[in-house]
This record gives sequence, structure tokens and C-alpha cells, in this order.
Amino acid sequence: MLKGKKIILGITGGIAAYKSAELCRRLKKSGAEVQVIMTQSGMKFITPLTMECLSEKEVITEMFPERRMVGTRHISLAQWADLVLVAPATYNLIGKISCGIADDILTTVISSTKAPVFFAPAMNVNMYENPICQQNIEKLRKLGYRFIEPGVGDLACGDVGKGRMAEPEEILNEVIKLLDEKKDLTGKSILVTASRTEEPIDAVRFLSNRSTGRMGYAVAEEAFKRGAKVTLISGPSDLNCSSGINLVKVRTADEMYKAVKKHFAKSDALVMTAAVSDFAPEKLSSGKLKKQETELSLNLKQTPDILREMGKQKGKKVLVGFAVETKDEIQNAKSKLKEKNLDLIIVNNPNLKGAGFEVDTNIATLIDRKGKAERLPLMSKKELAEKIIDRMVKLLKR
Ligand code: C5P
Repeated sequence: MLKGKKIILGITGGIAAYKSAELCRRLKKSGAEVQVIMTQSGMKFITPLTMECLSEKEVITEMFPERRMVGTRHISLAQWADLVLVAPATYNLIGKISCGIADDILTTVISSTKAPVFFAPAMNVNMYENPICQQNIEKLRKLGYRFIEPGVGDLACGDVGKGRMAEPEEILNEVIKLLDEKKDLTGKSILVTASRTEEPIDAVRFLSNRSTGRMGYAVAEEAFKRGAKVTLISGPSDLNCSSGINLVKVRTADEMYKAVKKHFAKSDALVMTAAVSDFAPEKLSSGKLKKQETELSLNLKQTPDILREMGKQKGKKVLVGFAVETKDEIQNAKSKLKEKNLDLIIVNNPNLKGAGFEVDTNIATLIDRKGKAERLPLMSKKELAEKIIDRMVKLLKR
């Protein structure tokens, strides 16, 4: 399953290093070419000779090996790899990468590679739960580094808790999954909108809705993972996205419209997941509106229907819209698809348990231009994003 794949297996100083021998054996058995790099502490737990026998390759342990001063060896190793896997990854190694420290051959290779990097943390529970470690992991995740969660159980030091390195079999499965990922959007530019808009009433108040952006961020991440160049135009949201995604933050429907218009021409597809406010206050009151003795009326004007406007200049681009419907879902979504000139519309009813805003799951129906509807079961927004991108890939091939 890993035939022809080139993997750098980094081994740092933790007792879990004994499992790296089995991991190396399994990687090799699956067809991978494995280059082991060990840190000085890693070698205290397991010998390079063991790893050399299993990997059938000379183990690299030095940045500047005697007699063979190849100053750019870290670059060639970094370019050679299809994947860098660090197992075990200690508190120290994770901390160094997160801070940009490259003071040995392993950290230097990780810093200079374009290949995906996978960490299998292994450490004492208190070290793992230390906020510094958690912040480092969070920071690295956001930058696109991957982690294989450690397990909970007895730790070498006698403590019980989270910190035990994942088992070699689990790590192998994750590696296979990652290297098997489809890159079917390579060369495509995808524009995604997400979250809500906020329409100011005065200096402190606004009109908005409950959308958090989870669906849109999941679509953007999936498109990015599959090789697309992604621009994510997001209304206010607490979410983060991979650093490779071009994130454009906006607030109002007007700002979102301007940003979409700016990026639309260069895009192959637009996915409008954003819950754009349909109305905005006609005029913005300066300062804060004072409490009234009597009722207060707000005059609202319509905001631009961004998707409808883009539908008018669709050309060969793929347009995907979302519809939130509480009644006659399919019928209403079909009319919306027609009116806005879409290729695909995803409709959901937020009244159903597990669907709609502020949850990690959704229950959606996908409807295409021919009116064919596919009702999907309850699934995570990430899974739904995969389904949407699968459809988009097909639509882009037309
Ligand atoms: O018409 P309705 O608001 O239900 O349509 C929903 C779809 O249209 C969503 O994809 C949403 O992002 C988009 N939309 C838009 N501009 C608006 C309102 C909705 O692009 N002003």
C-alpha cells in the first residue's frame, strides 16, 4: 500500500522509541522506503544498529558527519521525502518546531520540507497537558502539521493518563490514509464564503444570524487538502484555517459582495456557504442609539444577493449554493437553484436535530441542475464537505 513512498522516520528521546522499531518494520513491509533520522536522545533509547537492520539504510544521526561534510544534506533529505513522520515526538521536539528552532538534522529537515509532517506525541501526561505543549500543538495544527493523538493508559513513569504513543498499527493506518489522499483539485482555484455577515445599526449594535462558519471552513479545508488554491471569504468567526488558505475577513454583506466580485474572475468554482444577511439598516446611526420612550423603527434595505449576481456571469464556472429551509425543502431549493443559475444546491432544515447552525454535524440533501436529489444521512460537516468536493470535481470535468 505504500509502494514507492519515501518516508523519513524521525525518532526522538522517549521510551516509546522501542515501538519505532516495529513501526519501521511495518512501514517497510507495506512497501515504503524508510530513512531513519535519530536525535542524540533518541539513540539513548534504541540503537541506530537496530533501526539500520530494519530500515536497510544507514541511519542519519548527525548534522555534520565527520569526513562527509555535505552542508546541504538536510535540503536533499527534505526534498526526497513524501512524508516526514516523527514517532515518538517529544515535548522538546514539538516545542522546537513550533518555535522555529532547527538545531540538529531532524529539526532542520522538518523545517525545510514541503512534504506533510506527522507527529506521534509520546510523553508524561503532565507534560502533554502542559498548556505550553497544547498551545504548540494547536499552533502547529493550524499551520497544517498533523498529529496522531496519543492514547490514555499506564505511562512508563508510573503515571496513568494521556501521553502513550499511538500503536504502530494505528500510525501505519494514518500514514496510509494521508498518502492516499486525493489531489484531484490540483491546478484549480476555489472561492468559498463562510459564516455570517453583520449589518451595523449603530456604533455597538448589528443585525446578524447564528452561523459560525463551520461548514464553509470545512469546505475550504477539504478543497485545500485536495490540491486547490483556495480563497476563503469569511464573515465574523472564531475559527482558524490552514495558513495556505488565502483568508479574507469581511463584516457586512456589501464587503462580502465586493470581495467575491474581486476574486470570482480568477476562480473555477464558488461555494457560497455564508449565511448572508438579506437586509441591512438603511442608515447607520452615528454613536449609540439612545433608549427611546416610544417604539423604535428600523428601516431595512435589501443587501445584494451575491450568488444571484455571480450566477449572471457564471460562464463555465461551477456555482454551489446553500439553502436553509424549514418547509417544502426540496421544492424551494430547486427554485433557488434555477433562479440563481447554480450547478448544485445543498439544502438543510435547521429544525432537525443535528442539522444547521452551531453544531458539528448536518443532515443535507444535494440537488443538481437536473433536479436529481441525493438525501444524505446525519454526518459531520467535514464528511459533508468531502461529498460536496467530490461533486465539484465531477462538475469541473464537464
Ligand atoms: O435566497 P437564500 O438566501 O435562501 O439563498 C441562499 C444562498 O444564497 C446561499 O448559498 C447564500 O450564501 C447565498 N446568498 C447570497 N447573498 C445573499 C443571500 C444569500 O449570496 N444576500
